[in-house]
Amino acid sequence: MILGRTRLQGTARVNGSKNASLPILAACLLCSGQSLIKDVPRLQDITTMCDVLSSLGAKVSREGPNIVVDTSGIYSVEVEETLMRRMRASNLVLGPLLGRFREARISQPGGCNIGSRPMNLHLKGLRALGAEITEEFGYITARAGELTGAEIQLDFPSVGATENIMMAAVLARGVTIIRNAAREPEVVDLQNFLNCLGAKVTGAGTDIIRIEGVSKIHPAEHQVIPDRIEAGTYMVAAAITGGEVTVTNVIPEHLRALMAKLEEAGAVIEAGDDYVRVRGADRLFAVDLKTMPYPGFPTDLQPQMMALLTLAEGTSIITETIFENRFKHVSELRRMGAEIKVEGQTAIIKGKKKLYGAPVEASDLRAGAALVLAGMAAENGTLIEGVEHIDRGYERIERKYNALGARIMRIRSEGSH
Ligand code: UD1
Repeated sequence: MILGRTRLQGTARVNGSKNASLPILAACLLCSGQSLIKDVPRLQDITTMCDVLSSLGAKVSREGPNIVVDTSGIYSVEVEETLMRRMRASNLVLGPLLGRFREARISQPGGCNIGSRPMNLHLKGLRALGAEITEEFGYITARAGELTGAEIQLDFPSVGATENIMMAAVLARGVTIIRNAAREPEVVDLQNFLNCLGAKVTGAGTDIIRIEGVSKIHPAEHQVIPDRIEAGTYMVAAAITGGEVTVTNVIPEHLRALMAKLEEAGAVIEAGDDYVRVRGADRLFAVDLKTMPYPGFPTDLQPQMMALLTLAEGTSIITETIFENRFKHVSELRRMGAEIKVEGQTAIIKGKKKLYGAPVEASDLRAGAALVLAGMAAENGTLIEGVEHIDRGYERIERKYNALGARIMRIRSEGSH
């Protein structure tokens, strides 16, 4: 339950990145021994990845903000269906398992709330490295006698495919080149971790990544980068509530696309070395944006930005180019009084002076984050169902916002229904 008309004030510290932690935890499977991953957020998706690793025989323990993964006793290379269903990113174990054990089996990930999300690019890349892949009875099985470096041209810079191929190629014979690779900061963080393990990876952050196969790697320690999507969500929160928030533990460079759009909308932004301060304006203005692979505007901040634009003066156009079904928040924002028309992958938002609290449902993680933002800015109260989706990506979101002056109450704990 969110009581509206909030003006957020204060400082919010961002946690380690969920989407960087997931492939890094999976990459621990590449070698035998104990790795220490620092600043891993306490989120449902991270628990799922830890459960996946445990189900394969790893010993996983949390020590404060850090996670220790001991992969010396791996006895299985198969991820069962229930774990795949809990989180699509469980598919990130495919590359490392194939790399180390030359065999992996995962249940076929289905579609999800934001689109069909196939794995064709992951599999094409792994096949190019020499894996034999079969897809039957709802499972994907990958086997390789030997993995050999290859030149792989991705049809689209998929984040997951880039990461899976990078991890599989670490222990392949010879050099692998991935062209049209994803350039996201999380891919760079994975490269850095792989190199700590003793791999030889260069080029992450550009669209060509080079992996020189090595024959041996060893466990390592690594500090995960801050979560740019969590940071971006707080930045939009400051702007939509007309408040002033300093977001710390941030790499401002990762948030340039959002900063540009928030400034265009009228917010005032100051970026330091490791913080960003956002001051909302009394009047927000319409802006157009299109989601793109990094360094373009992130699809994971599109719903939050749409919430903001429902209150901006004029007509905004948002085009979603990454996922086919990522406008589920539109119907819920409309229930709160927003005027939004959707035509295919484009949403046309006519800014209103006010939003009004209503009972709404979070259909997925970022849609849920957008509804919390709308709720804080709205007149009167908003009741959000489906909060478990929000918990997948934000650690105790109500505590962080309440510390900034929001009035959010969790009236039914997660898992109680
Ligand atoms: C990652 C992020 C997710 C983010 C997304 C795009 C993680 C754990 N999740 O997801 O939060 O929204 O990047 O920035 O890091 N595609 C194919 N074939 C494939 C793979 C992908 O067609 O084999 C398509 C997808 O259906 C989608 C698009 O490519 O339309 C982007 O997907 P991808 O970059 O792979 O996203 P994820 O790695 O799943």
